[in-house]
Amino acid sequence: MSGNDNRVIIFDTTLRDGEQSPGASMTRDEKLRIAKQLEKLRVDVIEAGFAIASPGDFASVKAIAEAIKDSTVCSLSRALDGDIDRAGEALRNAVSGRIHTFIATSPIHMQYKLQMQPDQVVENAVRAVKRARNLIDDVEFSLEDASRSELDFMCRIIEQVIDAGARTINIPDTVGYAVPDEYGNTIRQLIERVPNADKAIFSVHCHNDLGLAVANSLAAVNAGARQVECTINGLGERAGNASLEEIVMALRTREDVLGLTTGIDTTQIVPASRLVSSVTGFPVQPNKAIVGANAFAHESGIHQDGVLKHRETYEIMTAEDVGWNTNRMVLGKLSGRNAFRTRMEELGTTFVSDAELNTAFARFKELADKKSEIFDDDLIALVSDARASA
Ligand code: KIV
Ligand code: ZN
Repeated sequence: MSGNDNRVIIFDTTLRDGEQSPGASMTRDEKLRIAKQLEKLRVDVIEAGFAIASPGDFASVKAIAEAIKDSTVCSLSRALDGDIDRAGEALRNAVSGRIHTFIATSPIHMQYKLQMQPDQVVENAVRAVKRARNLIDDVEFSLEDASRSELDFMCRIIEQVIDAGARTINIPDTVGYAVPDEYGNTIRQLIERVPNADKAIFSVHCHNDLGLAVANSLAAVNAGARQVECTINGLGERAGNASLEEIVMALRTREDVLGLTTGIDTTQIVPASRLVSSVTGFPVQPNKAIVGANAFAHESGIHQDGVLKHRETYEIMTAEDVGWNTNRMVLGKLSGRNAFRTRMEELGTTFVSDAELNTAFARFKELADKKSEIFDDDLIALVSDARASA
């Protein structure tokens, strides 16, 4: 299955690996709002959480599995019977569900963390995949710390988990250690050497410790991987995960070279970024690619002059394509409830009831009396405050 067509599956893990960012934990309702926005963005797979981790995580995965119809909903589980059963239970009512099970395969993780011999690791992996397949058709297996694992050992375990029923094989760069050529070569060799590789989709999951998560993900798809795991705004453990918006826009903008596409509705990228930022309280740096406030701003006279003469002199994609509203109405004290609600929706905030809209709108009017220009950040702060004090 790998490398046979040019469509890259986008697997979003904002709600699982993104939430592992210190200080980014989210409530069930917040996760549900983000999941709905991810569905609007048309991500293929939403990793909704780690069902065994806590009753709250279980409830979130279950609620998301019941609410989402157009994306596959996935729960993480270690290669342990209890984890797998809990994931299966949380996903029971999903239109399309996936169990994602993993075990570490690097010498350092096997020796110190798992305290297992390689043979035991293979045995546990195969058992976990078979158990998951008894509960659900769609099973993903990850080789944690793959970028520091031995190639021969990875080939061995991958062949056996595919035989056991795994349909997606994920090769994570768990500690953000890989560099693009090396990582691309690893993916290429795994696909070439594993005898039953054609029965699975190869996936990549890159962390950003060296700032290379997006570059490594692109090297991997170039080498035949057809699923990329990523998060909105690059949220995630330590330095974060590969950023969804950067991968999607790189594939789209450089389709001429990479020859690959995604199913993402790119106009939903900025609303998704705003929503994740407002829910987690993690601001987006102004110069962040695609979703930063300055990503499409031109300050220097030479650049402004160039863009006015022909946009493509200094722009490789359009702001509208990624969901920036360049013709936006200026909101002030004369603006009505409808304009306010529309702008908030563009910023990724949907009101759950008329009462919530009315409270936020009343606060907006109070602010508009004091401030001549209301910026997007004012609106986001105002709605967060209204929600916090509700
Ligand atoms: O980084 C990692 O290895 C993970 C796995 C659990 C997929 O997040
Ligand atoms: Zn990870």
